[in-house]
Amino acid sequence: MDKFVVKGGRRLTGEVTISGAKNAAVAILPAVILSDEPCIIENVPTISDVNICIRILKEMGAKVENIGKDVYRIDPTTIDKFCVPYETARKMRASYYFLGALLGKFKKARVSMPGGCPLGDRPIDQHLKAFTSLGAKYNLSQGMIDLTADKLSGNQIFFDVVTVGATMNAMLAAVKAEGLTVIENAAKEPHIVDLANFLNSMGANIMGAGTDVIKVRGVEHLHGTTYSVIPDQIEAGTFMVAIAATKGDAIIKNVIPKHLESITKKLEKIGVNIEQYDDSIRVWVDGPLVKTNVKTAPHPGFPTDMQSQIATLLTLAQGTSIITENIWEQRFRYVDELRRMGADITVNGKVALIEGTGKLMGAPVKACDLRAGAALIIAGLAAQGVTEIEDIFHIERGYDCMEGKLRALGADIEKVSVPDKAVETKPAENKAAV
Ligand code: EPZ
Repeated sequence: MDKFVVKGGRRLTGEVTISGAKNAAVAILPAVILSDEPCIIENVPTISDVNICIRILKEMGAKVENIGKDVYRIDPTTIDKFCVPYETARKMRASYYFLGALLGKFKKARVSMPGGCPLGDRPIDQHLKAFTSLGAKYNLSQGMIDLTADKLSGNQIFFDVVTVGATMNAMLAAVKAEGLTVIENAAKEPHIVDLANFLNSMGANIMGAGTDVIKVRGVEHLHGTTYSVIPDQIEAGTFMVAIAATKGDAIIKNVIPKHLESITKKLEKIGVNIEQYDDSIRVWVDGPLVKTNVKTAPHPGFPTDMQSQIATLLTLAQGTSIITENIWEQRFRYVDELRRMGADITVNGKVALIEGTGKLMGAPVKACDLRAGAALIIAGLAAQGVTEIEDIFHIERGYDCMEGKLRALGADIEKVSVPDKAVETKPAENKAAV
């Protein structure tokens, strides 16, 4: 198993370039299945979730070539399998996008139930609601979801909760359905818009992505395209917090400032300076960090995927901050690890009370999910002394060479291989990605 060893106390300065968005890429790669011709996808992040998507496409019979840095040429016309096996699907949360893409193209799909996850219950009832609204039938057995449809017909889909995954899957299943599909109470995240733009670049007819009503008019044929994945809003936000936590001064390149608005506003309230340019931002701190309250919400609210990172920053601020996690039941599991570093945080249900102590001490800690791992790296960068972070496979699912990017900003962080402890059971290999 590998771990990160972080020596705290270095200010982050210089420049960093953000990679393609994980949560867009893991939807766009399965969406290529819907095309009747090869597609070229650019700005694909090098992360293990993407590697799993590529593996699934290859196992289905697609031809996939890495034709340049972060560029893949995918020919889906040779696909002859319509099943995503348990072992592969369980490794990546977003494997359920293969359900929507396979159903939309072949009117059949067989994908393992996405596994349990470190964020609490993650039902798929809204995904199934979307599929059945379009005329599909489903069967759940032995941990597999089987979808079939004689015909897919446009319909109205009203989501009971705002859900990114089900909004994505509804678009994937509806793009070739006969007639008009109206998706209401849709999620509005940047990656939703990116998937819609990708599908439209193949000849789909999707309007309203980014609002809470998305209209999809079914088309017969989707042609090949060349498409570049948007920059990762959450990776950019993570680096904004890391620079702030080390009282640094750095430029973050390849961003869409509009996607960062809620993060920018919150950091400015804490006392972080942020200057926006066309596709980059400057982040610096030249005064005290002060307490603030955070409530996570669907886009354009403050992203839940930034909650653990901003909590870490607030442990360094003066005063008492309150964080309310409104999306996931169990997204405070990183708090125990921050407490080992001296943080004073009290959690009660979906609310965390953070007493800003102004400092953290290095300690051995464990990443329990992707963003919790990122938060622990930030804590290590700001802490006095050395922090060793285990279970970094979580982090490598969603951050493209994070340690290399941080080192380029002046951080003292190394990836160290550690022989597996024979006695300790290895964390469940197939723990679903988040
Ligand atoms: C996506 O997960 C992201 N993952 C998550 O990012 C992110 O936290 C989440 O959206 C919210 O923004 C990917 O895109 C791969 P949801 P998803 O469906 O689609 C409930 C990260 O760190 N719900 O928007 O699984 C659900 O329980 C990861 O990159 C239902 O009730 O999230 C939750 O409370 C972590 N029924 C809420 O909706 C359903 O059928 C939002 O979930 C589906 C969801």
